[in-house]
Amino acid sequence: MNQLSESQAERKIQDLMTSGRRRAGVWGLGYIGHSTFAALVEANVSVVGFDIDPVRVSGGASILTGEHHMSEATDDDRLILRGDVIVHFVAVPTERRDQPSDEAITDVFRRILNAVADGRQPRGVLVVVESTLAPGTTDGLLLPMITEAGLVPDEDVLVALAPRRDWLTFGRDGLRTLDRVFGGIGPRSSALARVFLSLMTDTLHEARTHVEAELVKCVENAYRHVEVTLANQLTLAFPHVDMVDVLRLAGTKWNMSEYHPSFGTGGYCVPLAGRYLLQGTEHPEELTLVSQALTTDDGIRKRVIESVADAGPVLILGLAYKGNVKVATLSPTIAMARRLRELAVEHAVYDPLYTPEEILAVCGSNAPTDLVEAISSAATIVVVADHDAFLAADFVAMLTVERSHALTVLDNYGMLAGVVWPEHVRYRRAGEPGWLLSVGGAAVLIEAAR
Ligand SMILES: NC(=O)c1ccc[n+]([C@@H]2O[C@H](COP(=O)([O-])OP(=O)(O)OC[C@H]3O[C@@H](n4cnc5c(N)ncnc54)[C@H](O)[C@@H]3O)[C@@H](O)[C@H]2O)c1
Repeated sequence: MNQLSESQAERKIQDLMTSGRRRAGVWGLGYIGHSTFAALVEANVSVVGFDIDPVRVSGGASILTGEHHMSEATDDDRLILRGDVIVHFVAVPTERRDQPSDEAITDVFRRILNAVADGRQPRGVLVVVESTLAPGTTDGLLLPMITEAGLVPDEDVLVALAPRRDWLTFGRDGLRTLDRVFGGIGPRSSALARVFLSLMTDTLHEARTHVEAELVKCVENAYRHVEVTLANQLTLAFPHVDMVDVLRLAGTKWNMSEYHPSFGTGGYCVPLAGRYLLQGTEHPEELTLVSQALTTDDGIRKRVIESVADAGPVLILGLAYKGNVKVATLSPTIAMARRLRELAVEHAVYDPLYTPEEILAVCGSNAPTDLVEAISSAATIVVVADHDAFLAADFVAMLTVERSHALTVLDNYGMLAGVVWPEHVRYRRAGEPGWLLSVGGAAVLIEAAR
């Protein structure tokens, strides 16, 4: 930015982008990449979106590009590696089969570096990594890749990390209004990243270096994981107490958030953060809280199932780990279904967002062939995801049909707490007294019956 002042340079870059003379690339058109693409188009920037999955490309292309004829979605990387694309946003997965994975980010960097090295891409191109990275990925993988390609970091290739912390249900507003952390591999990377990110986000916080920027996302999620897990340890330690109520009350303190016991965490953010941290540190033995959170999280799903395994058939409602989103990564249902199979308990998994084939492929168990029959013959119904569909009048009518045998309903989020249950139904939200029969719940019931 030699002779121009910083603000002049910024304006010049923004003009280049909004006039269509230069374009932005987005790698990976999933939840995150899709929203980046849309936010850039909204900022009047021309965008090329690339995905290796043609379904993602064709499914999203018309929605993404809309009226903006300069923008396009493609599975041909020649279009995103053209000379007019001067910034790349990378939103590819960094997890695979529930573990951190470098495969996709390595692929994207290899393609971009080859293009810079052979002149298809300009020197000084910026790569903004939006995906969550395991600590050490930039220094251990990305920077060596740049030098091995014969290129100079922060000169030939600029790199900044700007992990996304919005959640997919926030829509585009999250990207604009949520504070965003970023950090470059050097001063040029940081300066340019600020210019491009400010097209989409109002409040930016610059990290000291890329190392700190890389760690922030994992740290904030690991904090959450430890706190969520403490709620579960508390309900196991005090099974006779209504821990939902205790934590609701504790959450009224000025410096405490509200937590609640549950079947454990799910998704690819919170439960994975600890794994990223343990993988990225040379001192995993120091992160005992993180390791313990992972162990407790695994354990709670097993304990839920073990507490009901002897009673008879089990129906799990929800493959998604959360309501109204089709995300099953590390969903408690996957571990619960596995445990049910290990214990040879008759069971089925139902989720209105998934086909029976998808349910079988994701969790290894079958969807019910007849939902009405599965509900009426179940001895236990485990409600994992708080889908709105489970609150629909006809669904509740199916659940509350008069029955002659006992039914236990265990509810992760308490979404069915307001339902008027017929006789023979024992309803418990996770964390309420005696919700887990195997950890003091039986004693609570016997006492109540006296
Ligand atoms: N979804 C969220 O709310 C959220 C929030 C914060 C962070 N993140 C992080 O953002 C990243 C992306 O998440 P997502 O939810 O968008 O994932 P996603 O699975 O919805 O989308 C990823 C897309 O990348 C594509 N892809 C895979 N390999 C590719 C390659 N080599 N080149 C180009 N495209 C490729 C896939 O086909 C897919 O369409 C992950 O690291 C995730 O942890 C996600």
